[in-house]
Amino acid sequence: MSDKIVQEVERLLEEARLRVYKDSETGLGFLDKAFELSKTHDYKKGIAWSTMRYGSYDLAVGFRYKAIEKYKNSLKLMLELKDYQGVSRCHYSIGTVYALLSEFDLALAHLMKAKVLSKNYDPTYYMKLINNIASLYLELNQYENAINMSHYIIDYMKKNNYERLYLPYVILGDIYLKMGKYKEALFSAEKALTYLEEKEDISYAGKCNLIIAGAYKGLEYYDEALIVYNRALKLHESSGDYQNSSQINRSLAEIYLKKKEIDYAFRHCQTAMTLSLKHRSEDAESKVYFMYSKIYESLENYQKAYDYYKKGSEIQSKLYSERLVNKYKAVKTEDIELEDLELEETLSLDRTLSELKTTYLDLSLSEKSELTDAFVEAIVDTIDMRDTTTSGHSKRIAKYSLEMMRQLNMDKEHFKDIRFTDSEMKEMYYAALLHDIGKLAIKESILLKHQRLTPDRIEALQHKFVYIKSCLKVRLESQGLNDDEVDILASLDESLDFIKSVNSKQYLDDFTINRLNEIHKMEMIDCDGFGVKLLDIFELQHLSVRRGNLIESEWIDMKEHARKTKEFLENIPWLKSIKNVPLIASSHHEKLDGSGYPFGLSGDSISAQMRILSIVDIFEALTASDRPYKAPMTIDQAVYTLKSEAEDGKLDIKLVNFFESKGICYLCKEEIESKS
Ligand SMILES: [Fe+2]
Ligand SMILES: [Fe+2]
Repeated sequence: MSDKIVQEVERLLEEARLRVYKDSETGLGFLDKAFELSKTHDYKKGIAWSTMRYGSYDLAVGFRYKAIEKYKNSLKLMLELKDYQGVSRCHYSIGTVYALLSEFDLALAHLMKAKVLSKNYDPTYYMKLINNIASLYLELNQYENAINMSHYIIDYMKKNNYERLYLPYVILGDIYLKMGKYKEALFSAEKALTYLEEKEDISYAGKCNLIIAGAYKGLEYYDEALIVYNRALKLHESSGDYQNSSQINRSLAEIYLKKKEIDYAFRHCQTAMTLSLKHRSEDAESKVYFMYSKIYESLENYQKAYDYYKKGSEIQSKLYSERLVNKYKAVKTEDIELEDLELEETLSLDRTLSELKTTYLDLSLSEKSELTDAFVEAIVDTIDMRDTTTSGHSKRIAKYSLEMMRQLNMDKEHFKDIRFTDSEMKEMYYAALLHDIGKLAIKESILLKHQRLTPDRIEALQHKFVYIKSCLKVRLESQGLNDDEVDILASLDESLDFIKSVNSKQYLDDFTINRLNEIHKMEMIDCDGFGVKLLDIFELQHLSVRRGNLIESEWIDMKEHARKTKEFLENIPWLKSIKNVPLIASSHHEKLDGSGYPFGLSGDSISAQMRILSIVDIFEALTASDRPYKAPMTIDQAVYTLKSEAEDGKLDIKLVNFFESKGICYLCKEEIESKS
């Protein structure tokens, strides 16, 4: 490739870059030429950069999804060429579009990747990038990260004698304002103003004033706020920023309302409305309706207050559903394979960049997700280690659940309406693996109680029987026994055998319970003259549990594990896309008829994911040989049990049938059999 061609392509691309927004027709002419020239000479770098620039032209005319597509095509080429500057720019551009689409998670993921690759290329670009990352953290309400990022860039800019220091201070001001830390917001915005002094950047000066005014409003210094809002208004109007102008008028209306100067409040509302209609901002329009509603409410005109409120909320709910559609589209355009490829490339480069001794903040989202997976698996292994008899339970549950969701997604008969997204599958994966994490908080004496009386209690009981026997024998020879004592002695061995058999039974019938009570009544006088009961009240109470091994108070403690699961998991800052992990995980003992725990949820408040988890949890516990002395149920027996629970209105019958008819119940057959 001759230098001349390279230089010419670069020149054409630069011409095209300068004209994206100002003179797009001429700009596109330059871009076409750059693209053709690169193609003719098979200059791949030129093709990659032209493709990216085409994306910018799409974006300029509002074709956001087309722009993302172009950027991603360009990204593929850049990765092949190992042009990391290009890779960074592509990620930056993709992230910017996602931010415009309010897809802040995705935007952040791309900007983080851009950041990893950008530091050594161009300080101006790097600085812009970090500022944008800080703003995204703000959008995602991750204040701490946003503040850290802002301070990081302030240090970086100071070190490099970089001028536009007001940028990060404006962001800091915004963050503090949103957090309600008004004094800090004031300080940051004023600091930004000092850096702005010599620059004539009106829009940023306007923004600073807006923050200051907002802070005054928050601090209830209304008169000061009015002055600064008016100053901000002038600045915004002269820079043609209608969105902020509309917002300022609303804020002014709010302050006048607080000061009970209703006429002024109305006047500013009207201006705000005119501005939002003129610039067709439905969001701004709805917010003005809310403001009107507040004013009428203060005038006790509740009918009008209600009407305006209704108008505002109708628009908001329409916007909300539009945002959902956008989200769906955005997620669809995310290319998983490409993501993995990018990650690999990013990681290999990562190793060569020595300054990237990573803090968690510096990790990309995909890396974080890998780290999360590893952590989750380590925790699951810890749960398994504590109770080895149930080891593998959570992993098998994850398997059953995901297979169930996968097959439901393909079903065209009964579950056409159920379609799980990739995020929901991921959410289920974590929830299934961690559903019993709350058991870590349960005492071992309860968690590991696999019989009605624990082995040491049974041993003590045996000793007691031996003692009773020897006492009775001594007395028989010395002074003789009464009729009751003769009976006791005769049935002693048999009673002990009976008690031992009761101890490991799954279910006790009335006859057994009655016999236990009979034994409890038996008492003899020992060699020292003390009365000794064959079964004391503690032993009777524990042995008489009809089903399972736990007495009522132990059972209450055990049930707490589901609530503990929620508490544990809520401490983890899950990504927004999988935020329901704590709820799903902790609901695995809920029943459709409301008889479950920990919250007693019922019917529709139990989602499909939660229903699936509760079915597979029961099934797994029944089929796995988790008790050394109890045979596990066969798969057919366990399915039968599920069905009868479903018929009692406790489980979702359609899902239980699906679980059986699709053969999902056989998924871990070999694993279970090899275990038993
Ligand atoms: Fe559980
Ligand atoms: Fe479980």
